[in-house]
Amino acid sequence: MLNFELKNPTKIIFGKGQIENLGKELPKDAKILLLYGGGSIKKNGIYEQVTAALQGHEFIEFGGIPANPEYEVLLKALKVIKEENITYLLAVGGGSVIDGTKFLSAAALYEGDSPWDILINKIPTTKGMPFGTVLTLPATASEMNSGAVITRAETQEKFSMGGPGLFPVFSILDPQVVASIPQRQLANGITDAFTHVLEQYMTYPVGGHLQDRFAESIMQTLVEVAPEIIKDPRDYEAAANFMWSCTMALNGLIQKGVPGDWAVHMMGHELTALFGIDHARTLAIVAPSHYRLNFEAKKEKLAQYGKRVWGIKGDDIDAIAKEAIVKTEAFFHSLDIPTTLSEYTPDYKGTAEKIAARFTERGWLGLGEHKDLSPAKVQQIIEMSY
Ligand code: NZQ
Ligand code: ZN
Repeated sequence: MLNFELKNPTKIIFGKGQIENLGKELPKDAKILLLYGGGSIKKNGIYEQVTAALQGHEFIEFGGIPANPEYEVLLKALKVIKEENITYLLAVGGGSVIDGTKFLSAAALYEGDSPWDILINKIPTTKGMPFGTVLTLPATASEMNSGAVITRAETQEKFSMGGPGLFPVFSILDPQVVASIPQRQLANGITDAFTHVLEQYMTYPVGGHLQDRFAESIMQTLVEVAPEIIKDPRDYEAAANFMWSCTMALNGLIQKGVPGDWAVHMMGHELTALFGIDHARTLAIVAPSHYRLNFEAKKEKLAQYGKRVWGIKGDDIDAIAKEAIVKTEAFFHSLDIPTTLSEYTPDYKGTAEKIAARFTERGWLGLGEHKDLSPAKVQQIIEMSY
């Protein structure tokens, strides 16, 4: 097992009816900016629950943060924060609203020239404006981690940021919010969380037995609840397990003491930036080809996953590992998630070269757990994903 440090300060308030406890988590003297997305919270009753719980607190609202939180929109929110002397942020939404709020938390206290520098120069945030979240969509685990991903449509870029100052102070996770989530977003959430586990697991063995089993148990739980949640998102037990699995998949715990890959996300982000494909779907496009191209380096873990998560029998490591990739694709297909780029856009030709060139320009010359995934290999993987 590798050495590690672990600190996660986010308080999780989990369960039925927990939104009504929101007020207790917020300082009385705070001036709060309530941030939300395209308006789903106004249709499913979450907005009413949140505003009722905010009675007695001073707050104003900023709505309209789009999926893949857009820099230009966030700059408008930043203006509000400064003009209104906001002291506390409250994100009510999925990964996009929470990530947008994290950017604002960092940008509100940033003293440099342009907040875009935080993203482009990878400036870690050690202190941000405090914020809490009410999660409406299980998927990213942004509610319990300190990372964010911000999009800039103008330049077709999508970059990550983060730092120890960007953990939410608290996050409210009421699985009842799952009831109103459309099928497409449910499938996305399952796929994103499942791939988060893969990114931290599908590397090479380092004797992290407990981490491996944490990771496998999250994947097994997602596989088990996926059909239930797709069939009936009002199934509370399935929703609760789905929600907690998504949070556990990327709150830092399973990454400790083991190598991480994250190349699937790096490539996937480019597909969202270029074509607007939903984040989770880009991962389903890239992951199978990534595992096929890096088969030799990853086959031991692929086989362990094949045996333990998919119950594949036998002694032939290569055969089990190959079958495990096929099972993964079949799982995505069972969620109605296509796994080739050409199923999402007719303009896929040339994408591989374009992404490889971008990675070269940015100096991203060696991704993955061995830091040896070159732009040339990235190009091959994307071509295999067509
Ligand atoms: O905008 P609203 O109206 O809220 O509608 C949203 C949006 O259209 C809707 N939705 C959310 N909760 C709902 C609901 N609709 C009905 N009922 C509800 N209860 O769902 C749509 C998608 O929301 P979004 O927040 O974009 O989805 P998700 O949570 O999948 O977040 C995706 C973003 O997170 C980033 C992705 O790159 C992407 O930008 N990620 C963030 C990570 C992190 N911070 O750790 C890690 C991930 O790998 C990922 O990169
Ligand atoms: Zn993701």
